[in-house]
Amino acid sequence: MGGKLSSRFVAGVEIEDALRVAEAVNRQGMHVTLDSLGESVSSAAEAEKAADVYHRLLDAIAERKLDANISVKLTQMGLTLDPQLAGDIAESLTEHARATGNFVRIDMEDSPLTQVTLDIVRRLNAKPNLRGAIGIVIQAYLYRSQADIEQLIADGIRVRLCKGAYQEQAQVAFPKKADVDENYVRLSCTLLKSDIYHGLATHDESMIDEAKSFASQHGIAPSRFEFQMLFGVRRDLQRKLVAEGYNVRVYIPFGREWYPYFMRRLAERPANVLFLAKNLLRN
Ligand code: FDA
Repeated sequence: MGGKLSSRFVAGVEIEDALRVAEAVNRQGMHVTLDSLGESVSSAAEAEKAADVYHRLLDAIAERKLDANISVKLTQMGLTLDPQLAGDIAESLTEHARATGNFVRIDMEDSPLTQVTLDIVRRLNAKPNLRGAIGIVIQAYLYRSQADIEQLIADGIRVRLCKGAYQEQAQVAFPKKADVDENYVRLSCTLLKSDIYHGLATHDESMIDEAKSFASQHGIAPSRFEFQMLFGVRRDLQRKLVAEGYNVRVYIPFGREWYPYFMRRLAERPANVLFLAKNLLRN
């Protein structure tokens, strides 16, 4: 039942499932980013095992000529055990991505990890052999994000902007959704004005409309940025944006550790619980 429920948001448990779904999404004219689900690990061996899945993905993407990159969580690479370990793993993944003409996106986790995540990405991007092969995620709910984005743009680092998915304290993050949304629009404009190819990750049509009108007012072509959305969320909007000529990248998670990811998606929109329950009964 778990598998059936989660299949709305998760591609399956095996690499092969993820590749099959990625191929289908590519056929609909959309780019993909693949996420091998899993968060904090408790040993270096587990971190290496998690990294191995991503190495295999990078090879499979190249072999099958998929239009897909990878999204990686540093806690899954051992960040909370040893930042050096996570940094080394991220480096070898980025080297592999560079060698296969690909790109690594480092997801952003909760705020105690923001600085160390930025430090690792900036350090790797500063290496001439890795420049441009690694990018980061910035969360609009954090007060610090405007300053982080300015620094990242100065460094030439590609950013994915999202609203932010973790429970944060008012000392670090806007408690009100309206303020998060306002900051999201402000940060999107800063990103769009830069000469770097960034991703705007949201399903919020008002955020998307603001970005579209800012881009058209400032002569920023749709080819200079992309919208990003989660697999299974607002598929209608994904298709509409593609039909309008925008780049859309779908974030496709897969793997056995689907439960926390799935619960976050339900929490974001409680109506999903009803929707999934109805589908389950119907099938
Ligand atoms: P918001 O939550 O305001 O929702 C706007 C509208 O979108 C809703 O009214 C509904 O119509 C639709 N919607 C949103 N979520 C839905 C759902 N689960 N099911 C159905 N409809 C839904 N976060 C993070 O902290 N670190 C990260 O690295 C990432 N990475 C990431 C990648 C990509 C590609 C995306 C799209 C999102 C992330 N996120 C993330 C998650 C992000 O921070 C945020 O929690 C969700 O995207 C929901 O926020 P929205 O911007 O969609 O707006």
